[in-house]
Amino acid sequence: MKDKKLIIFDTTLRDGEQSPGASMDIDEKLQIALALEDLNVDIIEAGFPIASKGDFNAVSEISKTIKKSTICALARSLEKDILAASEALKKAKKKRIHTFIATSPIHMEKKLKMSPEEVKNCAIKAIKLAKSFTDDVEFSPEDAGRSDLDFLCSVIEAAIEAGANTINIPDTVGYNLPHQFGTLIHNIIKNVKNSSQAIFSVHCHNDLGLAVGNSLSAVLNGARQVECTINGLGERAGNAALEEITMTVRTRQDIFPCDTNINTKKIMKCSRLVSSITGFPVQPNKAIVGKNAFAHESGIHQDGVIKSRETYEIMRAEDIGLVSNSLVLGKHSGRNAFRQKLNELNIPIEGEKQLNDIFFKFKELADKKHDMFDEDIIRLSSNQEITNNHIKFNYMNVVTESGKKPSALIKLEVGGESVESSCTGDGAVDAAYNAIEDIVKSKCKLLLYSVNNITSGTDALGEVTVRISKNSNVVNGHGADTDIVKASVLAFINALNKLQQNPDLSSTKKRGV
Ligand code: KIV
Ligand code: ZN
Repeated sequence: MKDKKLIIFDTTLRDGEQSPGASMDIDEKLQIALALEDLNVDIIEAGFPIASKGDFNAVSEISKTIKKSTICALARSLEKDILAASEALKKAKKKRIHTFIATSPIHMEKKLKMSPEEVKNCAIKAIKLAKSFTDDVEFSPEDAGRSDLDFLCSVIEAAIEAGANTINIPDTVGYNLPHQFGTLIHNIIKNVKNSSQAIFSVHCHNDLGLAVGNSLSAVLNGARQVECTINGLGERAGNAALEEITMTVRTRQDIFPCDTNINTKKIMKCSRLVSSITGFPVQPNKAIVGKNAFAHESGIHQDGVIKSRETYEIMRAEDIGLVSNSLVLGKHSGRNAFRQKLNELNIPIEGEKQLNDIFFKFKELADKKHDMFDEDIIRLSSNQEITNNHIKFNYMNVVTESGKKPSALIKLEVGGESVESSCTGDGAVDAAYNAIEDIVKSKCKLLLYSVNNITSGTDALGEVTVRISKNSNVVNGHGADTDIVKASVLAFINALNKLQQNPDLSSTKKRGV
């Protein structure tokens, strides 16, 4: 490990959640925050507290729970934003306020309608206020990638003077090229007189597919913090992907003067969790975490890998925690073997009751599915179930027949009472959803319906994510089963229960700004 550290600042829960169509409730954000802490992320940007009540609550809950990573909250360079951020961070063991204001001519003139001098003064005031709540203050000149270098340097110098210890340079619109962005970082560090008193960070967007390249070029030019997200989730085309930054720096230690503290073996788990919560599948050929990232299809490649894996592999699948398609247990396996498998997969179990519950689900699945893989067990154990569900699934009978409209009979228990309905629909899932809606009359809107297979094969466990909204509350529901229609029904019921149980806490994405 090199002595110079590259700080990993994860913004999956803030910029990642700003991704169109992505939305997470507080429990889901907490699950992700715990996974990020386990991954050894240095800083978790947990949200933008002034933006919504949900965001505020999420930052506050995460602050109470996370102990190892620093928790960061975003704030514009406005008093009310900084007060909200500091309030939400109150319980955090290690806290950071991240304040920003745009410095590019177009943003200052068209969006802020402020003069450069006003922008600079606003930044200084905000940093000083933030500093009164925590010593750890980060400042971002938004759209730095399109700002005038001299003005940018003068704002940064004033920001450091005012107390900012981290200066983050965002390429907000993903406009820069790697050599250009690297030069920008080099010039800033060279021209800003007090640059040695701050850590320089970068935050790159992926509009031209260059977020990772730009971030790495910045690291080669002196940046020591990278802002990134799991699976590259983020506003528009996304942010730099954490897994790509981390694995590039780790794999090319011959080039990079620093390394991260990331426990790379936890990467795959985080990637799957974020994908499953958001319902955004990872493309198969995605670097590091795509299903095909370590798969060799061509005979020449397979032959090479068998003879010596280094012929075609620059990283080991194990290094990112990929327990790829290893056949594990069957339906005759006992509880001890199952417990040992959970240990091997680093799945924490709290007490015998939880072990029994997962073991029961494992047996149920093993009855239906011929081959059980590690991925199936990971999925089973991460299936979050809300206890005391208001709506419970009892039975379904779905009929699809050529030339006839699909129909579904659904039986549920709602508030302890057995109820049923039969409906038709444009497909099996549509018919089942119509029947459920006929029973519960939620009047919710379906925002997302996404199906993902967890392993391969027609008997694979299918995972369905749905996102529904009602009165501007947004919740996700998840369901997994070998029968995709049943998984869909379970996901819908899961979402309806969340809406019913937590109408206020559920949405974290009601942006007020
Ligand atoms: O992209 C951006 O400029 C941001 C800032 C708030 C850092 O997300
Ligand atoms: Zn951003």
